[in-house]
Amino acid sequence: MSSPEGWGEPLYDRVLRGVPEGSTVLDVGCGPGVFAAFALARGLRVTGLDADRSALARAEKTAPAARFVVGDAHQLAGEYDVVALVQVLAHVTNPVKVLREAGRVGGVVRATVWGREEESDVRLFGEALEPFLPPRAQRRTPAGPPPLTDPERFRKVAGLAGLQVVALDEVTSPFDYPDEDSLVGPLLQSDIGRYAANRVGPSAVREAVLQTFAPRRHGEGFHLQNLFRVLDARPTA
Ligand SMILES: C[S@@+](CC[C@H](N)C(=O)[O-])C[C@H]1O[C@@H](n2cnc3c(N)ncnc32)[C@H](O)[C@@H]1O
Repeated sequence: MSSPEGWGEPLYDRVLRGVPEGSTVLDVGCGPGVFAAFALARGLRVTGLDADRSALARAEKTAPAARFVVGDAHQLAGEYDVVALVQVLAHVTNPVKVLREAGRVGGVVRATVWGREEESDVRLFGEALEPFLPPRAQRRTPAGPPPLTDPERFRKVAGLAGLQVVALDEVTSPFDYPDEDSLVGPLLQSDIGRYAANRVGPSAVREAVLQTFAPRRHGEGFHLQNLFRVLDARPTA
């Protein structure tokens, strides 16, 4: 699965809602800098932080007016009006610690996560490939607490991090693929897509994907609706 260009704008817009021009923003886990560029365009002063140097090299090109630093989300420094965690918490070792750090260095914390699997059309990629994957019992499933896609869990984790939840909003973000190739091509390049294609051939995978996505056809392409949640929180006094 690849995310089409521009998909994040409704989400970024909610993350920055009410943030006055000139505010300082720490973009933790900034990746290739797309949110950083969006925040700069809103007149904000942006520092991007990521553990991955290659992502930072891309971010410097995407958002040249931002400052970028290599760092670990579990150990933040400085002082910012807003700390943004855009699609990062699912990737860190200890989300409670990361949120606690965000509240320590930020006046406001805004963090986004995917909605539950059944709330987003991207689940259809997995459903399309399911028949070609090993039986579920043979797959490694991560042990541990429920994921942050569960809104109650997300609220609880924020509380454990010493944050006061101001809001936990839902944002729907459309993923528009202009044609069949833009839907199927990147999937065939992914690990799971390559696995399926090695077993049954790329044409069978393509056919299964197009069949599964048939109800989402929109003209020549496909229109998906995906749900995200945005936590709006402040450190407790
Ligand atoms: C899914 S990407 C999200 C990137 C970006 N925020 C966006 O929305 O496009 C997750 C990012 O978090 C970064 N990351 C994961 N663990 C991290 C950590 N402990 N400290 C800093 N960055 C981390 C990864 O390198 C990756 O760039």
